[in-house]
Formats: sequence, C-alpha cells, structure tokens
Amino acid sequence: MRHLLKLSDLSRDELFDLLYLADKLKSEKKAGLKRRYLDGKTLGMIFTKSSTRTRVSFEVGMYELGGSAIFLSSVNTQMGRGEPIEDTARVLSRYLDGIMIRTYEQKEVEALAKYGSIPIINGLTDYCHPCQVLADLMTIREYKGTTKDKKLCYIGDGNNMANSLIVGGIKAGMEVAIACPKNHMPDKDTMDWARENGKFLCTENIKDAAKDADVLYTDVFASMGQESEAKERMSEFQSYQINEEVTSFAKDDAIVLHCLPAHRGEEITAEVLEKHADEIFEQAENRLHAQKAVLVTLMG
Ligand code: CP
Ligand code: NVA
Repeated sequence: MRHLLKLSDLSRDELFDLLYLADKLKSEKKAGLKRRYLDGKTLGMIFTKSSTRTRVSFEVGMYELGGSAIFLSSVNTQMGRGEPIEDTARVLSRYLDGIMIRTYEQKEVEALAKYGSIPIINGLTDYCHPCQVLADLMTIREYKGTTKDKKLCYIGDGNNMANSLIVGGIKAGMEVAIACPKNHMPDKDTMDWARENGKFLCTENIKDAAKDADVLYTDVFASMGQESEAKERMSEFQSYQINEEVTSFAKDDAIVLHCLPAHRGEEITAEVLEKHADEIFEQAENRLHAQKAVLVTLMG
C-alpha cells in the first residue's frame, strides 16, 4: 500500500490490517503509551474545502506519533493562484514525508500521487471519503463485534460518503443497502462493482433499505460545493430523513452513525441524533485512531 486514494485500491487484507492497527493504536493511547512511530516526520495537509474533524484529527495524530503537520490552505499557497498540482506534487515531495489532501476532484488527488514521490492520503473529494469509512468500520466492529454479515443501510444523497460506504462495507463483508432519490444515486461503476462482489441493494424505498439493518447511516443533503443547490435539495430529500419511524424498520439494537457535521431536522432528527450520540461521537473519535493507522502504514 503506497497511498490511500480510494478504498477500492485496497485489498481486503490491507483494509483489515488498517482496522487491526487502528484498534491497537487506540488501546495504546488509552493505556497511556506514547509510541513515536513517526518520529521527526512531517505531513502536509492541503485543504481546498472546510474541515473540523479531518484537520484536527490528522494534526493531533501526527503529533501523537512523534511527527508534525503543516496546514496548507489553498487560499494562502500558490495553488490558489494556479500553480499546477503536478508541480506542487514534485516540490512538496522534497520537503514532506506525506500529504493529506481534501479537495473537489478525485483526479487532483490521483495527479498528486502520480507526480509526487511520497504517500498521498485522500481526506475527502467529491467522489469519496476513505478515511471516514475506515473510522466507520472501526466503530461498527466496536459496537457489533464484527462487520461480517452485518447490514449497513445508508439513507440520503448518493454522494462521496455513499460511494465509500458501498466499497468499504462490501469489502468488510457487510450487506449494503442504499436508499436515495432516483436523481441522486451513487456512482454507477461503484454500484456495479458492489452487485458483483457482495450483497447490495440501491432503492428509492427507505423501508426496504432499512429493513433489519444493524447500522443506519446518513449524511448531509447538500455537500460542500453544492451550496447553490441546497434549497432545491431540501425538498427533493425531504422524505430521506433518519427519524424514529425509520429506526423502527431496523433491528432493535441497530446503531446510528453520521460522519458529521449533522443538520438536525434535515437528514436526521435531533431526537435520533441525541439517542445515538454515544456511537456517533465515538465514530468521530475513531477518525483519529483510524488515520493514525493509515499514517503509520504509509509513512512509518
Ligand atoms: N466528517 C468529516 O470529514 O468532518 P470534517 O468535514 O469536519 O473534516
Ligand atoms: N458529503 C459531505 C461529507 C462531509 C464530511 C461533504 O462532502 O460535504
């Protein structure tokens, strides 16, 4: 494993190795052990979109591993003035030991990996969000003991989160069901792959998707970059909300996850979010442990 550009690049073994290492790093931290696996190493963090969790968890993660991180906003670097990603990759490779990038187009992340000579980590694109799904799978293993044969139901926009949950869920041995409006389905190739490689359903019917689910998952109706469509999306997605009724379709002991930030009253009700706050905020914490596993694997 040289980069983490998207989950479909990982073998099943590589995925589970990351999850085991994440568990180990989490228990080491809880036991007060401070292991400097990345002593003296530096991660560059390029952001062309906003972030709370990704930025803070990567920066703290590098610090806890004995290294450091540099926040590179596209606004204040030459990237914002048009310096090509191909040149940026070759320059930054000479200073840094790894780069985490959050941006719009997946092809920018792929170009960084092609032209650079250091590990590249995708911190979210319009296409996928692999780091988030590693933390999600880690959380599912903690609450359900295993991912094998568990049913994951995602309700809402067929966006970056949906694409990564499909791939991560299927690779981890889960049954994956997606409920979304017909004009907002996930990536077609990703769904074709899922149908060939596991138990997968994509439907407009929430009840069918949520039936007997072990995990219910949702994300915002309008992602970063879709602000101008937000109003229209609110009416299109109105019925795709995780509320008490939807949770009643799932198993009695189902957990509810959300990558956050959440919009109460839109994709999830305040009641459901608060009822499942334990797992949702554990999931947010697990970003730190899962990403430390990625950093150690790629940069250690
Ligand atoms: N879930 C997630 O990636 O959060 P941020 O946008 O705050 O990084
Ligand atoms: N789909 C959301 C995820 C945020 C973590 C977005 O891209 O804005």
